[in-house]
Amino acid sequence: MKFGLRLASVLLGSAAVVQSQCPDYTTFSQAPQGNRSTGPLALPYMRPAPACRTFNSSAVEKVINDMKARLKDPDLARLFKNTFPNTLDTTVKYFNEQQNLAFIITGDITAQWLRDTANQFAHYHSLLSTDKELATLVKAVINNEARYVSQFPYCGAFQPPPESGLPTSHNDWADGVTVNPPVNNQIVFECKYELDSLCGFLKLSRSYYEATKDSSFINDNCQIFRVIDEQSQATFDENFNLVSFYSWTGGNGALSPAVPNAGIGEPKAYTGLVGTHHRPSDDLSTFAFLTPANAMLSVELTHLAEVLDSTQQLRNVSQLARQYSLRIQNAIWNSTIVNNIFAYETNGFGGRYVMDDANVPSLLSLPYLGFLDKHHPAYVATRKLLLSRGNPYFAATKKFNGVGGPHVDAWHPWPMSHISAIFGTDDDQDILTSLYLIANNTNGLGLIHESVSIYDTSYTRPWFAWANSYFAEMLLDLASRKPHLIFKDGKPYVPGQ
Ligand SMILES: *[C@@H]1O[C@H](CO)[C@@H](O)[C@H](O)[C@H]1NC(C)=O
Ligand SMILES: *[C@@H]1O[C@H](CO)[C@@H](O)[C@H](O)[C@H]1NC(C)=O
Ligand SMILES: *[C@@H]1O[C@H](CO)[C@@H](O)[C@H](O)[C@H]1NC(C)=O
Ligand SMILES: *[C@@H]1O[C@H](CO)[C@@H](O)[C@H](O)[C@H]1NC(C)=O
Ligand SMILES: *[C@@H]1O[C@H](CO)[C@@H](O)[C@H](O)[C@H]1NC(C)=O
Repeated sequence: MKFGLRLASVLLGSAAVVQSQCPDYTTFSQAPQGNRSTGPLALPYMRPAPACRTFNSSAVEKVINDMKARLKDPDLARLFKNTFPNTLDTTVKYFNEQQNLAFIITGDITAQWLRDTANQFAHYHSLLSTDKELATLVKAVINNEARYVSQFPYCGAFQPPPESGLPTSHNDWADGVTVNPPVNNQIVFECKYELDSLCGFLKLSRSYYEATKDSSFINDNCQIFRVIDEQSQATFDENFNLVSFYSWTGGNGALSPAVPNAGIGEPKAYTGLVGTHHRPSDDLSTFAFLTPANAMLSVELTHLAEVLDSTQQLRNVSQLARQYSLRIQNAIWNSTIVNNIFAYETNGFGGRYVMDDANVPSLLSLPYLGFLDKHHPAYVATRKLLLSRGNPYFAATKKFNGVGGPHVDAWHPWPMSHISAIFGTDDDQDILTSLYLIANNTNGLGLIHESVSIYDTSYTRPWFAWANSYFAEMLLDLASRKPHLIFKDGKPYVPGQ
């Protein structure tokens, strides 16, 4: 055991030497690198050199080759080749099998987000049953996150585990911020309370179980239920006592914008939904009850119950999960829809904000999340509105269009919104239009960016692993659901089959 550990650290040490000669991927990703694809877009090859990749998987290489052989458009093949391995190529900052710990960065920011990792690995789920090493990596990610969640269930972004020996990063945006309950900045990178972070952790965990049937990671830590319970409550009890379990205050530029009511946000009344303070974009919520995060929570709690029941563990927890899941589902159908249109946010007093933000979970992504069927009339009607001027964060020119959010600004829509839109339709023409809006707007760089201007060539976040993974996940979805749109032979393809 001791020998194994020492050997591992020697090997890690030598990899680190090589890695130190590798270009920083934030810089690398801002200029075209390798040779060009042969389609009209002539997209560059953007994978780091083999010696600079942070994890190797032969299963992943096989999928890349399988897809390349089938895709009729060489530009799409190049995009797949760049994006599918991006998480493994660039974001595995630390992995130690013996310690069962891995630290995965989001891309250009050296911190691990619970939401991002769930999405960064979502397109590899089908490979976990065959690639044992990849499964071991995902298990180590889950184990690291289980510790974060048990210590700081209200937080969403974290520092490297101390065992890694990696330095912690200073978060300028957290300067001058006071979070209650208090956090340790050596463990927490940023403690915005975002309900979907916990959903991401649940999704990654159950997806790992579904693929491997390995239940050894399950523990009886129930912090998630504590948060659900606390954040379902109204701002005032019947005697107007203030009910507050989390607050975020501070000054001087750290808050954009400041959180009203001494850091607890807009008042909310009980509806059965669970509140959040910030959105999946890390922006402040207008109203606490974020419909898509609740939809994701309801779906993931049902999956959690299924996993626990199939492993015959913690029956009390699985019962609780089913109860909450049903309560939240009913509350969504009962309190967020008017005239067939879902509100993005509500407050329980009749306040509703009809809009969408590109970050998943979003309203556009409700079918992707597994909450409803893409043909459900309420989704069809809501989707139509969200992809029009009826959504304040939809913007369009001839060059580019889509849904953005206040995180960047209202005229920089996010390619991610088109990926969600593709998951939410069976219409061939709509799929192809969204697909080529994304492909045509990588700024000639062959990677998926955070946001793209509708006016000029400006874009944000050259290295955004989640967006790359989500794009590749969508192309794999089309490979099995709509092969005639993208493949030479029109035959469906599913990795590992
Ligand atoms: C382009 O570069 C890739 C990766 O280095 C290589 O595999 C491929 O053979 C090159 N293709 C051409 C046409 O040079
Ligand atoms: C991945 O494989 C290359 C050789 O193809 C090697 O140089 C590199 O160190 C490997 N990366 C890791 C993290 O093992
Ligand atoms: C479920 O039961 C276990 C064992 O009796 C207990 O430790 C745990 O606190 C219970 N969990 C909940 C959420 O009730
Ligand atoms: C909506 O709420 C009412 C009253 O609280 C309840 O009886 C009904 O079952 C709910 N409907 C749905 C679809 O959950
Ligand atoms: C993508 O660009 C091509 C030209 O390179 C153009 O023909 C096509 O209409 C564009 N598609 C979209 C959806 O903008």
